Amino acid sequence: MTIREHAVMPHKQQSSPQHMPTRSGTGIVMLNLGGPETLADVEPFLLRLFVDRELLRLPWQDVLGRVIAKRRAPRVRDLYAAIGGGSPILRWTREQGAGMCERLDALSPETAPHRFYVSFRYVAPFADDAVLAMKADGIQRAIAFTQYPQWSCATTGSSLNELWRALRRQQLDDVFEWSIIDRWGEHDGFVRAVAGAVREGLQLYAPHERDDVLLLYSAHSLPLSVIDRGDAYPAEVAATVSRVTTALALPNPHLLCYQSDVGPVRWLGASTESVIRNLAAQGRKNVLVVPIAFTSDHIETLSEIDIEYAHLAQSLGMSGFRRAPSLNARPDFLDALADIVGDHLQDGMAYSRQYSTRCPGCSNSACRGVPSRVRCARTGDRQTMGS
Ligand code: FES
Repeated sequence: MTIREHAVMPHKQQSSPQHMPTRSGTGIVMLNLGGPETLADVEPFLLRLFVDRELLRLPWQDVLGRVIAKRRAPRVRDLYAAIGGGSPILRWTREQGAGMCERLDALSPETAPHRFYVSFRYVAPFADDAVLAMKADGIQRAIAFTQYPQWSCATTGSSLNELWRALRRQQLDDVFEWSIIDRWGEHDGFVRAVAGAVREGLQLYAPHERDDVLLLYSAHSLPLSVIDRGDAYPAEVAATVSRVTTALALPNPHLLCYQSDVGPVRWLGASTESVIRNLAAQGRKNVLVVPIAFTSDHIETLSEIDIEYAHLAQSLGMSGFRRAPSLNARPDFLDALADIVGDHLQDGMAYSRQYSTRCPGCSNSACRGVPSRVRCARTGDRQTMGS
């Protein structure tokens, strides 16, 4: 079975016995939020999301989270129905993983074969599926690779905590030797890929308009309670925007805003919707939205930006409202993913320097944990650390 065939297996990760090698290669666990593949998956997806206390805190969360998920499910199902009946995030993640591994096999033959395993937080395939498939494949060296470019304890942090919990649940604590790619929002390859997508988006405008198009970078918002703990997310998103702006070297004005707030808590702003309203009130016609914290199309791009915000902009007279293409399986983005992992394999770091620095307001003892076997920082030697 080729890596690409492995990637398109229709459900849980599959072991690949014909790849059972003389050496075990490298397993790369791609961590992400996930999205419902079918309309029937919507309510369970929302339920897992709203009861995740590492994402948001609600009073009587198990009860209230269930109520909110149930109440929101019909509307969210309609949104997914309007974009084809489900989220394409699993398909894109598999294409990204396949492209990344093909490149890595050429880039780093000494750590080949490289295989990817999808670990979604709120929908299958889950972290348990990923670690069980790695065990079946005989993987020993494993990399937890977040697919959120910028760190947040509510996204990457929650996904890593769940991965370590899955290891314990499956009694696989000592099987893999781990390292972690916990953030990459300023990686040159990623910055180049986003800049390429922005340039492509600007082609949607007439040449005489292009220099004056406002670039509206839009990231997923987070509850303010997360930010108030000292979460790095806003600073890391701003750093990405700054790096992309420098790489573009264009005269266009730009702004950063946040979208997709849900539920009865306060969220990080300025909200993308309010920014669109204000720009329209100022008479701004040409606005190119650039997803800056999403690496593939899902409901936040295909529905929220392309349908909801586009209708809003049109109704307000903003005639040049467009979106830059998502990174999806752009070759320059697949190159970037392979380079990020390749650089990580070369530098021998177990995780970034920032990973062990907890949020000042953190009260979650699970945060910033490491599994029982991690690569020793710098030397790459095996080392046992407490979780
Ligand atoms: Fe950030 Fe715990 S919430 S380290």
